[in-house]
Amino acid sequence: MEKKVAVIRGDGSSPEFVRETLRVLDAVAKKYGHVFHYTDVAMGGDAIDRFGDPLPEAELQKCRESDSVLLGSVGGPKWDSLPGEKRPEKGLLRLRAGMGLYSNCRPAKIWPQLADASPLKPSIVAKGIDFIIVRELTGGVYFGDHITEGEEGSEVAKDIMVYSRGEIERIGRIAFETARKRRKKVTSVDKANVLDTSRLWRKVIHELAKEYPDVECEDMLVDNCAMQIVKNPAQFDVIVTENMFGDILSDEASIITGSIGMIPSSSLGETTVGVYEPIHGSAPDLAGKNAVNPVACILSAAMMLRYSFSMEKEADCIEQAVNAVLDAGFRTADNKSEGCTVLGTVEITDEILKHI
Ligand code: IPM
Ligand code: MG
Repeated sequence: MEKKVAVIRGDGSSPEFVRETLRVLDAVAKKYGHVFHYTDVAMGGDAIDRFGDPLPEAELQKCRESDSVLLGSVGGPKWDSLPGEKRPEKGLLRLRAGMGLYSNCRPAKIWPQLADASPLKPSIVAKGIDFIIVRELTGGVYFGDHITEGEEGSEVAKDIMVYSRGEIERIGRIAFETARKRRKKVTSVDKANVLDTSRLWRKVIHELAKEYPDVECEDMLVDNCAMQIVKNPAQFDVIVTENMFGDILSDEASIITGSIGMIPSSSLGETTVGVYEPIHGSAPDLAGKNAVNPVACILSAAMMLRYSFSMEKEADCIEQAVNAVLDAGFRTADNKSEGCTVLGTVEITDEILKHI
């Protein structure tokens, strides 16, 4: 197969782990007889420096014209003082909205080899951690109006949180369909004791649940969910939640698996053209040090092969290669534990390549 992949190399240490991910993709292409055509797309700080805009329309268009998008991470201290509209993160939000990617899937699964790196007690880890956060990605407070009013010294700021029935229903369906292929349980997370958006969320999810009688459905308040993720993560199969709650809970869910540097994600809408990215940030402190963990991005590429290109065995091949490298005791600095060998970004990828 021939596929067009838009590549956003990102900021900070991101170009390093994206470069390593492309080496893995090239090895997979060679092994299985595919051709991947890469098109570089500027977004985030890189685009601000070159075009004064975190995602120029022409760059977004390149993504729309590709079969999928591989993204590193954007942002860094250099651009922190820019106003909201001009920040690197705005490019990411425009990419998600501009491509209609409302469904963000973030797996939290512990690699048994990394159990020691989890900050949770071994007795909790032993019960298993294997759930998916389905995060709504193009609505909520991220995309409502952001307003700052008033005179300097007495300003008032507002961020408006908006959800429509349709937006809740389509992400709810993704969650139920996902649960059907797994352990058949959906935990819908909201703040219905305070927010109207959450009360609508709950109502729509309850209506949907009737269409999926084979799937158990429970509600959980977001503050309680934050606690349950560390207290008893084994209870979760699929968590579905709105945009900002999903942002926060997915960082929490990643760290209990040992390292945020291991968690990939997919963002999809109505077509198979998706954006695949690690859930971690651009780690500017690690830039140029050959120290950042490339695995979350490499696993994101595996998700891309599986979900956008239907290349199941190719995706398995990457995941098994990562597994073999962990088995052999190789780690990066973020998830090291006793008796393991810590490698740099390039060297751990070299090890992964040996198994492709
Ligand atoms: C994420 C990130 C982004 C988000 C930021 C960079 C805008 O934290 O993908 O989780 O909040 O969605
Ligand atoms: Mg986040």
